[in-house]
Amino acid sequence: EKDGYDWFMRKEIFEQPRAVADTLLGRTDAEGRLLLDESSISAEELRAIDKIIVVACGTAFYAGLVAKYAIEHWTRISCEVELASEFRYRDPIVDARTLVVTISQSGETMDTLMAIRHAREQGAKVMAICNTNGSTIPRESDAVIYTHAGPEIGVASTKGFLTQVVACYLLGLYLAQVRGTKFGDEVAATLAELQRTPEAIQRVLDDLEVVHKLARDLVDAPSVLFLGRHAGYPVALEGALKLKELAYIHAEGFAAGELKHGPIALIDTDLPVFVVVPPKGRDQLHDKVISNVQEIRARGARTIVLAEEGDADVAAYADTLITLPKVPTLLQPLLATVPLQVFACELATLKGHDVDQPRNLAKSVTVE
Ligand code: M6R
Repeated sequence: EKDGYDWFMRKEIFEQPRAVADTLLGRTDAEGRLLLDESSISAEELRAIDKIIVVACGTAFYAGLVAKYAIEHWTRISCEVELASEFRYRDPIVDARTLVVTISQSGETMDTLMAIRHAREQGAKVMAICNTNGSTIPRESDAVIYTHAGPEIGVASTKGFLTQVVACYLLGLYLAQVRGTKFGDEVAATLAELQRTPEAIQRVLDDLEVVHKLARDLVDAPSVLFLGRHAGYPVALEGALKLKELAYIHAEGFAAGELKHGPIALIDTDLPVFVVVPPKGRDQLHDKVISNVQEIRARGARTIVLAEEGDADVAAYADTLITLPKVPTLLQPLLATVPLQVFACELATLKGHDVDQPRNLAKSVTVE
Protein backbone atom coordinates (compact mmCIF):
# COMPACT_ATOMS: atom_id res chain seq x y z
CA GLU A 1 0.00 0.00 0.00
CA LYS A 2 3.01 2.27 -0.21
CA ASP A 3 2.19 2.83 -3.90
CA GLY A 4 5.77 2.19 -4.93
CA TYR A 5 7.31 4.53 -2.35
CA ASP A 6 9.99 3.23 0.01
CA TRP A 7 8.24 4.71 3.05
CA PHE A 8 4.71 5.59 4.05
CA MET A 9 6.14 8.91 5.11
CA ARG A 10 7.38 9.69 1.62
CA LYS A 11 4.03 8.65 0.16
CA GLU A 12 2.26 10.91 2.66
CA ILE A 13 4.55 13.84 1.83
CA PHE A 14 3.61 13.48 -1.83
CA GLU A 15 -0.10 13.20 -0.98
CA GLN A 16 -0.08 16.67 0.53
CA PRO A 17 -1.48 18.61 -2.45
CA ARG A 18 -4.45 16.24 -2.47
CA ALA A 19 -4.83 16.24 1.33
CA VAL A 20 -4.87 20.05 1.47
CA ALA A 21 -7.35 20.24 -1.43
CA ASP A 22 -9.64 17.72 0.30
CA THR A 23 -9.52 19.66 3.56
CA LEU A 24 -10.63 22.79 1.69
CA LEU A 25 -13.36 21.02 -0.26
CA GLY A 26 -17.01 21.95 0.19
CA ARG A 27 -16.48 24.62 2.82
CA THR A 28 -18.47 27.43 1.14
CA ASP A 29 -22.08 28.11 0.19
CA ALA A 30 -23.29 29.45 -3.15
CA GLU A 31 -22.45 33.02 -2.10
CA GLY A 32 -18.88 32.08 -1.19
CA ARG A 33 -19.50 32.29 2.55
CA LEU A 34 -17.57 29.89 4.68
CA LEU A 35 -19.52 27.11 6.39
CA LEU A 36 -18.25 24.85 9.10
CA ASP A 37 -21.02 22.27 9.16
CA GLU A 38 -19.49 20.15 11.81
CA SER A 39 -19.58 23.06 14.26
CA SER A 40 -22.29 22.76 16.87
CA ILE A 41 -21.12 25.91 18.62
CA SER A 42 -23.60 28.58 17.53
CA ALA A 43 -22.61 31.82 15.82
CA GLU A 44 -23.99 33.64 18.83
CA GLU A 45 -21.70 31.71 21.17
CA LEU A 46 -18.73 32.35 18.89
CA ARG A 47 -19.49 36.08 18.93
CA ALA A 48 -19.39 36.04 22.74
CA ILE A 49 -15.94 34.51 23.17
CA ASP A 50 -13.18 36.82 24.31
CA LYS A 51 -10.20 34.48 24.22
CA ILE A 52 -8.97 31.45 22.30
CA ILE A 53 -6.54 28.92 23.69
CA VAL A 54 -5.10 26.36 21.28
CA VAL A 55 -3.94 23.21 23.02
CA ALA A 56 -1.99 20.38 21.36
CA CYS A 57 1.21 18.30 21.42
CA GLY A 58 4.23 17.93 19.16
CA THR A 59 3.68 18.79 15.54
CA ALA A 60 0.02 19.63 16.21
CA PHE A 61 1.26 22.26 18.70
CA TYR A 62 3.32 23.83 15.93
CA ALA A 63 0.19 23.95 13.75
CA GLY A 64 -1.34 25.81 16.70
CA LEU A 65 1.50 28.35 16.64
CA VAL A 66 0.71 29.06 12.98
CA ALA A 67 -2.95 29.39 13.96
CA LYS A 68 -2.13 32.12 16.45
CA TYR A 69 -0.68 34.40 13.77
CA ALA A 70 -3.63 33.86 11.45
CA ILE A 71 -6.45 33.90 14.00
CA GLU A 72 -5.29 37.03 15.81
CA HIS A 73 -4.66 38.85 12.55
CA TRP A 74 -8.03 38.01 11.05
CA THR A 75 -10.26 38.09 14.12
CA ARG A 76 -8.54 40.43 16.62
CA ILE A 77 -9.36 37.88 19.36
CA SER A 78 -6.50 37.11 21.69
CA CYS A 79 -5.17 33.62 20.95
CA GLU A 80 -2.78 31.71 23.20
CA VAL A 81 -1.15 28.44 22.26
CA GLU A 82 -0.18 25.93 24.88
CA LEU A 83 1.28 22.47 25.12
CA ALA A 84 -1.49 20.17 26.30
CA SER A 85 0.82 18.62 28.87
CA GLU A 86 1.34 22.03 30.50
CA PHE A 87 -2.17 23.45 30.21
CA ARG A 88 -3.97 21.51 32.90
CA TYR A 89 -1.29 21.84 35.53
CA ARG A 90 -0.98 25.61 35.63
CA ASP A 91 -4.55 26.37 36.67
CA PRO A 92 -5.36 28.14 33.38
CA ILE A 93 -7.85 31.01 33.27
CA VAL A 94 -10.69 29.48 31.31
CA ASP A 95 -14.41 30.22 31.44
CA ALA A 96 -17.56 30.15 29.35
CA ARG A 97 -16.21 32.94 27.12
CA THR A 98 -13.08 30.97 26.24
CA LEU A 99 -12.91 28.88 23.10
CA VAL A 100 -10.43 26.05 23.51
CA VAL A 101 -9.23 24.68 20.19
CA THR A 102 -7.53 21.31 20.26
CA ILE A 103 -5.52 19.90 17.40
CA SER A 104 -4.83 16.19 17.08
CA GLN A 105 -4.21 13.97 14.10
CA SER A 106 -5.01 10.74 15.92
CA GLY A 107 -7.75 12.05 18.20
CA GLU A 108 -6.39 9.80 20.94
CA THR A 109 -3.55 11.80 22.49
CA MET A 110 -4.02 11.54 26.24
CA ASP A 111 -2.47 14.91 27.17
CA THR A 112 -4.80 16.66 24.74
CA LEU A 113 -7.82 14.71 25.95
CA MET A 114 -7.11 15.60 29.58
CA ALA A 115 -6.81 19.26 28.60
CA ILE A 116 -10.25 19.05 26.93
CA ARG A 117 -11.82 17.55 30.02
CA HIS A 118 -10.28 20.24 32.19
CA ALA A 119 -11.44 23.05 29.88
CA ARG A 120 -15.01 21.75 29.73
CA GLU A 121 -15.16 21.42 33.50
CA GLN A 122 -14.41 25.15 33.64
CA GLY A 123 -17.29 25.85 31.26
CA ALA A 124 -15.27 26.48 28.08
CA LYS A 125 -16.45 25.38 24.64
CA VAL A 126 -14.06 23.03 22.88
CA MET A 127 -13.53 22.90 19.13
CA ALA A 128 -11.46 19.93 17.94
CA ILE A 129 -9.40 19.86 14.76
CA CYS A 130 -8.90 16.18 14.09
CA ASN A 131 -8.06 13.74 11.33
CA THR A 132 -9.69 10.62 12.73
CA ASN A 133 -13.43 10.20 12.47
CA GLY A 134 -15.10 8.94 15.61
CA SER A 135 -11.96 9.09 17.75
CA THR A 136 -12.12 10.08 21.42
CA ILE A 137 -11.14 13.76 21.11
CA PRO A 138 -13.94 14.80 18.72
CA ARG A 139 -16.41 12.71 20.73
CA GLU A 140 -15.53 14.63 23.87
CA SER A 141 -15.55 18.06 22.19
CA ASP A 142 -18.42 20.47 21.46
CA ALA A 143 -17.57 20.74 17.78
CA VAL A 144 -15.09 19.38 15.28
CA ILE A 145 -13.43 20.42 12.07
CA TYR A 146 -12.20 17.28 10.38
CA THR A 147 -9.02 17.44 8.35
CA HIS A 148 -9.28 15.18 5.33
CA ALA A 149 -5.71 13.96 5.14
CA GLY A 150 -6.69 10.28 5.04
CA PRO A 151 -4.92 7.77 7.29
CA GLU A 152 -1.42 8.83 8.30
CA ILE A 153 0.74 5.75 8.89
CA GLY A 154 4.25 7.20 9.21
CA VAL A 155 4.97 8.06 12.83
CA ALA A 156 6.26 11.48 11.78
CA SER A 157 3.36 13.74 10.96
CA THR A 158 3.44 15.35 7.49
CA LYS A 159 0.09 15.62 5.72
CA GLY A 160 -1.44 15.67 9.20
CA PHE A 161 0.40 18.93 9.89
CA LEU A 162 -0.40 20.67 6.61
CA THR A 163 -4.10 19.86 6.87
CA GLN A 164 -4.17 20.99 10.51
CA VAL A 165 -2.75 24.33 9.43
CA VAL A 166 -5.43 24.56 6.73
CA ALA A 167 -8.18 23.77 9.26
CA CYS A 168 -6.81 26.51 11.53
CA TYR A 169 -7.01 29.00 8.65
CA LEU A 170 -10.60 27.92 7.98
CA LEU A 171 -11.46 28.38 11.65
CA GLY A 172 -9.84 31.82 11.72
CA LEU A 173 -11.68 32.95 8.61
CA TYR A 174 -14.95 31.53 9.89
CA LEU A 175 -14.61 33.37 13.20
CA ALA A 176 -13.74 36.56 11.32
CA GLN A 177 -16.84 36.15 9.16
CA VAL A 178 -19.11 35.45 12.12
CA ARG A 179 -17.74 38.35 14.15
CA GLY A 180 -17.56 40.76 11.22
CA THR A 181 -13.83 41.49 11.36
CA LYS A 182 -13.49 40.23 7.80
CA PHE A 183 -16.38 40.40 5.38
CA GLY A 184 -17.65 38.12 2.65
CA ASP A 185 -15.43 39.23 -0.19
CA GLU A 186 -12.30 39.34 2.00
CA VAL A 187 -12.98 35.84 3.26
CA ALA A 188 -13.55 34.71 -0.32
CA ALA A 189 -10.28 36.32 -1.46
CA THR A 190 -8.26 34.55 1.25
CA LEU A 191 -10.05 31.30 0.48
CA ALA A 192 -9.11 31.74 -3.16
CA GLU A 193 -5.45 32.13 -2.11
CA LEU A 194 -5.81 28.96 -0.08
CA GLN A 195 -7.37 27.11 -3.00
CA ARG A 196 -4.22 27.82 -5.00
CA THR A 197 -1.89 26.28 -2.40
CA PRO A 198 -2.25 22.61 -3.49
CA GLU A 199 -0.80 23.52 -6.87
CA ALA A 200 1.99 25.51 -5.18
CA ILE A 201 2.79 22.56 -2.88
CA GLN A 202 2.96 20.35 -5.96
CA ARG A 203 5.51 22.73 -7.47
CA VAL A 204 7.65 22.40 -4.35
CA LEU A 205 7.42 18.61 -4.65
CA ASP A 206 8.40 18.73 -8.32
CA ASP A 207 11.65 20.49 -7.53
CA LEU A 208 13.45 18.58 -4.81
CA GLU A 209 16.85 17.94 -6.39
CA VAL A 210 18.54 20.58 -4.25
CA VAL A 211 17.03 19.10 -1.07
CA HIS A 212 18.26 15.60 -1.92
CA LYS A 213 21.76 16.93 -2.53
CA LEU A 214 21.61 18.78 0.77
CA ALA A 215 20.74 15.57 2.62
CA ARG A 216 23.78 13.89 1.06
CA ASP A 217 26.00 16.84 2.00
CA LEU A 218 24.79 17.00 5.59
CA VAL A 219 24.49 13.32 6.39
CA ASP A 220 27.25 13.57 9.00
CA ALA A 221 26.24 16.90 10.53
CA PRO A 222 26.20 16.57 14.32
CA SER A 223 23.69 19.37 14.80
CA VAL A 224 21.47 21.59 12.65
CA LEU A 225 19.72 24.88 13.42
CA PHE A 226 16.46 26.17 11.95
CA LEU A 227 15.44 29.81 12.10
CA GLY A 228 12.21 31.50 11.16
CA ARG A 229 10.18 34.51 12.09
CA HIS A 230 6.43 35.20 12.28
CA ALA A 231 4.64 32.24 10.62
CA GLY A 232 8.07 30.92 9.65
CA TYR A 233 8.98 30.40 13.29
CA PRO A 234 6.74 27.32 13.77
CA VAL A 235 8.12 26.02 10.46
CA ALA A 236 11.62 26.19 11.98
CA LEU A 237 10.43 24.29 15.05
CA GLU A 238 8.77 21.66 12.87
CA GLY A 239 11.87 21.27 10.69
CA ALA A 240 13.96 20.66 13.80
CA LEU A 241 11.47 18.17 15.25
CA LYS A 242 11.38 16.15 12.00
CA LEU A 243 15.16 15.90 12.00
CA LYS A 244 15.33 14.80 15.64
CA GLU A 245 12.59 12.22 15.23
CA LEU A 246 13.82 10.65 12.01
CA ALA A 247 17.55 11.19 11.73
CA TYR A 248 18.34 11.29 15.47
CA ILE A 249 20.36 14.43 14.87
CA HIS A 250 20.37 17.20 17.41
CA ALA A 251 18.39 20.06 15.94
CA GLU A 252 16.86 23.23 17.29
CA GLY A 253 14.41 25.74 15.96
CA PHE A 254 14.66 29.40 16.95
CA ALA A 255 12.78 32.60 16.33
CA ALA A 256 15.18 34.47 14.04
CA GLY A 257 14.82 37.64 16.10
CA GLU A 258 16.26 35.76 19.07
CA LEU A 259 19.55 35.05 17.31
CA LYS A 260 21.40 37.88 19.04
CA HIS A 261 19.92 36.95 22.40
CA GLY A 262 21.93 33.76 22.64
CA PRO A 263 21.92 31.24 19.79
CA ILE A 264 24.44 33.24 17.72
CA ALA A 265 27.10 31.98 20.13
CA LEU A 266 26.59 28.50 18.67
CA ILE A 267 27.30 29.56 15.10
CA ASP A 268 30.52 28.27 13.58
CA THR A 269 31.68 26.57 10.43
CA ASP A 270 30.35 23.13 11.44
CA LEU A 271 26.79 24.16 12.09
CA PRO A 272 24.45 24.25 9.09
CA VAL A 273 21.62 26.76 9.54
CA PHE A 274 18.29 26.68 7.71
CA VAL A 275 16.55 30.04 7.51
CA VAL A 276 12.95 30.54 6.41
CA VAL A 277 12.74 34.01 4.85
CA PRO A 278 9.29 35.66 4.88
CA PRO A 279 7.97 36.96 1.57
CA LYS A 280 8.63 40.62 0.82
CA GLY A 281 5.83 42.68 2.29
CA ARG A 282 5.11 46.09 3.63
CA ASP A 283 6.71 45.32 6.97
CA GLN A 284 10.43 44.85 7.57
CA LEU A 285 10.37 41.18 8.42
CA HIS A 286 11.90 40.10 5.15
CA ASP A 287 14.88 42.46 5.46
CA LYS A 288 15.45 41.64 9.10
CA VAL A 289 15.63 37.92 8.44
CA ILE A 290 18.01 38.51 5.54
CA SER A 291 20.31 40.42 7.86
CA ASN A 292 20.21 37.35 10.15
CA VAL A 293 21.34 35.24 7.18
CA GLN A 294 24.22 37.68 6.60
CA GLU A 295 25.26 37.51 10.25
CA ILE A 296 25.28 33.72 10.16
CA ARG A 297 27.24 33.59 6.92
CA ALA A 298 29.78 36.10 8.20
CA ARG A 299 30.60 33.59 10.96
CA GLY A 300 31.31 30.87 8.46
CA ALA A 301 28.23 28.68 8.86
CA ARG A 302 26.59 27.06 5.87
CA THR A 303 23.34 28.91 5.15
CA ILE A 304 20.39 27.06 3.68
CA VAL A 305 17.79 29.63 2.76
CA LEU A 306 14.13 29.04 1.95
CA ALA A 307 12.76 32.07 0.16
CA GLU A 308 10.14 32.98 -2.36
CA GLU A 309 11.09 32.70 -6.02
CA GLY A 310 12.45 35.88 -7.51
CA ASP A 311 13.73 37.17 -4.17
CA ALA A 312 16.91 38.81 -5.45
CA ASP A 313 18.04 39.91 -2.00
CA VAL A 314 18.80 36.45 -0.65
CA ALA A 315 20.87 34.91 -3.41
CA ALA A 316 24.14 36.52 -2.33
CA TYR A 317 23.97 35.06 1.17
CA ALA A 318 22.58 31.59 0.53
CA ASP A 319 24.99 28.69 0.22
CA THR A 320 21.96 26.65 -0.74
CA LEU A 321 18.77 28.28 -1.94
CA ILE A 322 15.41 26.51 -1.81
CA THR A 323 12.80 28.53 -3.66
CA LEU A 324 9.11 28.58 -2.85
CA PRO A 325 6.18 29.79 -4.96
CA LYS A 326 4.77 33.19 -4.02
CA VAL A 327 2.05 33.14 -1.37
CA PRO A 328 1.00 35.57 1.38
CA THR A 329 3.18 35.43 4.53
CA LEU A 330 0.49 33.76 6.62
CA LEU A 331 0.17 30.87 4.16
CA GLN A 332 3.90 30.31 3.67
CA PRO A 333 4.09 27.46 6.25
CA LEU A 334 2.13 25.26 3.82
CA LEU A 335 5.05 25.49 1.40
CA ALA A 336 8.12 26.04 3.55
CA THR A 337 7.50 22.96 5.71
CA VAL A 338 7.58 20.57 2.76
CA PRO A 339 11.32 20.71 1.87
CA LEU A 340 12.14 20.27 5.58
CA GLN A 341 10.01 17.11 5.74
CA VAL A 342 11.75 15.78 2.65
CA PHE A 343 15.18 16.71 4.02
CA ALA A 344 14.59 14.77 7.25
CA CYS A 345 13.10 11.77 5.42
CA GLU A 346 15.97 11.66 2.96
CA LEU A 347 18.69 12.10 5.53
CA ALA A 348 17.23 9.38 7.77
CA THR A 349 17.02 7.08 4.75
CA LEU A 350 20.68 7.71 3.94
CA LYS A 351 21.56 6.89 7.54
CA GLY A 352 19.69 3.60 7.23
CA HIS A 353 17.03 4.38 9.83
CA ASP A 354 13.48 3.09 9.81
CA VAL A 355 11.72 6.26 8.72
CA ASP A 356 8.18 5.02 9.34
CA GLN A 357 8.91 3.67 12.81
CA PRO A 358 11.61 5.79 14.45
CA ARG A 359 13.09 4.37 17.62
CA ASN A 360 11.29 5.02 20.90
CA LEU A 361 8.27 6.70 19.28
CA ALA A 362 4.62 5.70 19.01
CA LYS A 363 2.14 7.04 16.46
CA SER A 364 -0.27 8.10 19.12
CA VAL A 365 0.70 8.77 22.68
CA THR A 366 -2.18 7.41 24.74
CA VAL A 367 -0.54 7.81 28.13
CA GLU A 368 0.20 11.05 29.96
O1 M6R B 1 -2.14 12.55 17.13
P1 M6R B 1 -1.68 13.89 17.61
O2 M6R B 1 -1.75 14.92 16.53
O3 M6R B 1 -2.41 14.36 18.83
O4 M6R B 1 -0.17 13.69 18.00
C1 M6R B 1 0.56 14.73 18.58
C2 M6R B 1 2.05 14.40 18.61
O5 M6R B 1 2.28 13.24 19.37
C3 M6R B 1 2.62 14.20 17.20
O6 M6R B 1 2.42 15.32 16.38
C4 M6R B 1 4.12 13.89 17.26
O7 M6R B 1 4.83 15.03 17.69
C5 M6R B 1 4.62 13.41 15.89
N1 M6R B 1 5.48 12.28 16.06
C6 M6R B 1 5.32 14.48 15.12
O8 M6R B 1 5.87 14.04 13.93
